[in-house]
Amino acid sequence: MMTSKGLYNLWLSQYWKFILLALLVASSAILFFECYWQAQSPESQEISLGSIEKLEGVDEADVDSAPNLDTTTTISTSRANPTGLTANLRPKNGTTNLTVNLVMATLLNDDISWTENIKIPNLNIIRYVSDDMNAQYHPPVPIKGHEALIYHTYMHDFYDDLPDITIFTHADDTSWHVDAILNSSMAFSLSHLDLEQVLLKQYFNLRVAWAVGCPDWINTTKGPGDSTKAEEPYMYEAFSENFNTTPPEILGGPCCSQFAATRDAIRRHPQSQYRRSMDWLMLTDWTDYISGRVWEHMWAWLFKGEAVDCAVEWKSYCTMYHICFGLESRNRVNSLEKEKKRLKRDGVLGELMGLLRGQEAQRRLDEIDAIMAAELENALEIGKSEVARANVLSDLYGS
Ligand SMILES: *[C@@H]1O[C@H](CO)[C@@H](O)[C@H](O)[C@H]1NC(C)=O
Ligand SMILES: *[C@@H]1O[C@H](CO)[C@@H](O)[C@H](O)[C@H]1NC(C)=O
Ligand SMILES: *[C@@H]1O[C@H](CO)[C@@H](O)[C@H](O)[C@H]1NC(C)=O
Ligand SMILES: *[C@@H]1O[C@H](CO)[C@@H](O)[C@H](O)[C@H]1NC(C)=O
Repeated sequence: MMTSKGLYNLWLSQYWKFILLALLVASSAILFFECYWQAQSPESQEISLGSIEKLEGVDEADVDSAPNLDTTTTISTSRANPTGLTANLRPKNGTTNLTVNLVMATLLNDDISWTENIKIPNLNIIRYVSDDMNAQYHPPVPIKGHEALIYHTYMHDFYDDLPDITIFTHADDTSWHVDAILNSSMAFSLSHLDLEQVLLKQYFNLRVAWAVGCPDWINTTKGPGDSTKAEEPYMYEAFSENFNTTPPEILGGPCCSQFAATRDAIRRHPQSQYRRSMDWLMLTDWTDYISGRVWEHMWAWLFKGEAVDCAVEWKSYCTMYHICFGLESRNRVNSLEKEKKRLKRDGVLGELMGLLRGQEAQRRLDEIDAIMAAELENALEIGKSEVARANVLSDLYGS
């Protein structure tokens, strides 16, 4: 009797110890996953080049590659162009042969085999390797200034030998930098990009979504005290030093430094402009994170002399990628993107709290992906027709 009761008591106290321990483990697991989740959030994945470096500064948390397809969005500042509609819908010249370079900012270990899936005829791939000074193409110094130093090096070195269009990208096919609407794929994006439109626009940021960049993202007058964006207090100096002129107060444009530029856009400036920016990037004692990042907000100025370059998202998908959503589809895609984002967040915790909730979330996510895929196919189908593209665009100008 005594023994068994003793054992029972012993078991009971062990049991409570176990419960306590389990509670501790569970709560630290939740904390860990919260941190992990945050660490996986787009802002911290941003550095694809020289990623050895830790993130500095506080950034905006609420970031994703989802577009805002709200019909209420308006054309910002100088983008409005009354004659744009006709110009944008000039038929494709099947007979023109464009020369296109794809300039890639990579590290030695990057796998760029995905570029084989890009459907652009005679695409000439020029791979810069930032950490291999023996590579055929490399920046003057290793791992400095992120993609910006590579892009300026290319524009300087190829100044007299530029193709009709140069496309500048990072090493990855899929990353949050690429819009979800563009099937989260750079190969998809480039295969659907309307090169004639690029010629007309001179400079086009491959990312369309406004998140972290548009419309009035950077205020160059802000100092470290009143800014929450790591690079913002550096923008005034960066702009002045690279362009030798007083910066505009507001800079805005889709983020992430992946874009297409024409020969003319690059030759707006003398070759010495690119030398100047190369030197600036090499000599600055700012971290690569800052010196690379400030350039994200200056490309539109470099290629077009425009401080704010924020086209209406759904219009841009239709014109530039021939992905044309009707009004209903836009609303549906928009709300599904929001639900997806919420589910993804809940899903991680859900799996911890109860497998069932996690599974339900996953089921719904799969369902959403299937609907989105169907919407995309449909939008691509509509986008094939020149007339439909005109109709989709005209209702924007009509309202
Ligand atoms: C396409 O062809 C038309 C007529 O032949 C010409 O006027 C136009 O400049 C061409 N567009 C491009 C981008 O070459
Ligand atoms: C355009 O490219 C095609 C196929 O690469 C070639 O046969 C044709 O001669 C080219 N035309 C011009 C005008 O360069
Ligand atoms: C989008 O990407 C998936 C693979 O991630 C592929 O199966 C699908 O065919 C792509 N959709 C389109 C329209 O290309
Ligand atoms: C830019 O920032 C300054 C200082 O914080 C502020 O006074 C000004 O109103 C801002 N400009 C715009 C257009 O928001």
